[in-house]
Amino acid sequence: MVKDLQKKDRYPSILILDFGSQYSELIARRIREANVFSLVISHLTSIQEIQEINPDGIILSGGPSSVYENHAPQCDKDIFNLGIPILGICYGMQLMVTQLGGSVTPAKNKAEYGRAPLNIDKESILFKNVKDKSIMWMSHGDSINQLPQGFQKIAYTDNTSHAAIENYSSKLFGVQFHPEVIHSEYGMTMIKNFLYSICLCKADWNTATFIEETIPKIRAQVGDKKVLLALSGGVDSSTLAFLLNKAIGNQLICMFIDQGFMRKGEPEFLMSFFDQKFNIRVEYINARERFINKLKGITDPEEKRKIIGTEFIRVFEEESKRLGPFDYLAQGTLYPDVIESAGTNVDPKTGERIAVKIKSHHNVGGLPKDLQFKLVEPLRKLFKDEVRKVGQALGLPDAIVKRHPFPGPGLAIRILGEVNNEKLNCLRDADWIVRDEIKKSGLYNDIWQAFAVLLPVRTVGVMGDKRTYAWTIVLRCVSSEDGMTADWSKIPYQILENISNRIVNEVKEVNRVVFDITSKPPGTIEWE
Ligand code: XMP
Repeated sequence: MVKDLQKKDRYPSILILDFGSQYSELIARRIREANVFSLVISHLTSIQEIQEINPDGIILSGGPSSVYENHAPQCDKDIFNLGIPILGICYGMQLMVTQLGGSVTPAKNKAEYGRAPLNIDKESILFKNVKDKSIMWMSHGDSINQLPQGFQKIAYTDNTSHAAIENYSSKLFGVQFHPEVIHSEYGMTMIKNFLYSICLCKADWNTATFIEETIPKIRAQVGDKKVLLALSGGVDSSTLAFLLNKAIGNQLICMFIDQGFMRKGEPEFLMSFFDQKFNIRVEYINARERFINKLKGITDPEEKRKIIGTEFIRVFEEESKRLGPFDYLAQGTLYPDVIESAGTNVDPKTGERIAVKIKSHHNVGGLPKDLQFKLVEPLRKLFKDEVRKVGQALGLPDAIVKRHPFPGPGLAIRILGEVNNEKLNCLRDADWIVRDEIKKSGLYNDIWQAFAVLLPVRTVGVMGDKRTYAWTIVLRCVSSEDGMTADWSKIPYQILENISNRIVNEVKEVNRVVFDITSKPPGTIEWE
């Protein structure tokens, strides 16, 4: 069976066959935004597996290859005979064309990247409510030379004669552009046309149905056994705690390891919120001394991260023994962590399948695989924005659901060089002011992350009549879609001024504030 899909699971209405496009995940998200459940699977998935799932529709993704190259990724040609509607996007369309007897060649004029007006040639169900000459996002170097039998061209751009094609009676469609990207003006309309008018999908994927379907599954999986959850206070582990609490009540025991690197007030908030307000049992483990002692004399960022990760596992193991035994460990693994990526599981030179690469996890403390627990991972089919919605529906407040991402090693990687309690307290105070001012300005939800970094570099200043010689705080504010790339946020001067004034006045050890104006790449978001 398709990796990660079991008989008892909800089957996807739309399957996305992945040919290695950077946009495959985005296609899945767009479809889910239209309330249709979709999964990304490898293009090597067998026809029998596809038939078993029997989706309402299939999307063939784009990809970096050219269909006429040796070892260009293929799918089983028989999928075109299943009677299931298919939409090929970019490479996916070209593959459909070549597999059905047409031909594709390098684009005559030149490769076409970016925005292009789409001229609609022929009325099509795909273009219902799509305005002629609307802008679509192109990214291709190949073009269709000859269409297979039964197909006709339905749209063109200045550069591409076959920008969209269809074989209406066989329910096969193809587009050269990317309807999934935000720059394609009517892209979402086309996706919805494909889902509702061509595949006749039901719009039945939403937060409420997810919760309704997941709770009995959790109950069936764990029976009357105890489940341990490492709670960090982030949106994933918090949503998981609420979901599991709803499903299995006091069989759930959360462990919150305070390594001493949280932000001001967070450990207290976490305990009062989960334990006292919602009666979710949270074991508070004060491990502050342990962690800070381990970091004595350590200045190298990677070494710091490794020490914190290893110590987290040690504490976790010791405490789970003390509190246990537990049969199950709950983890907030999300769909992007488990998604199959066809781009990385085929050797481009030989065309042979190589081990599926699973993207590295950012789970709490990176727990090792050899722990003696069975895993409960009810969020593993969800994207981050879906987790937020589930959290909200379960009653989590905005303070958790809309919280900016916070790294596992916490403030320890926002203090350059050696970490000690004095620096931690200083950074905590500065960080609190940054978040307070950003929230007051109304910008908090528009910014991916806004935080302070402590540069333990002393500079000379003057306060009143006195000379000061104190540390520097760096203000880091970035906008981003997913943390992979980021731009520095253009914060209004007045807000920068408020932050700077407050930090130098209220945080005794600091006399200078600087603003980081580096994008990612080349900089990373965190400083260590
Ligand atoms: P960088 O610094 O690599 O960060 O640009 C990208 C995003 O990842 C977050 N980050 C982490 N998250 N554990 C986490 O859970 C970590 O060790 C970690 N390191 C970085 C960072 O805050 C940003 O959102």
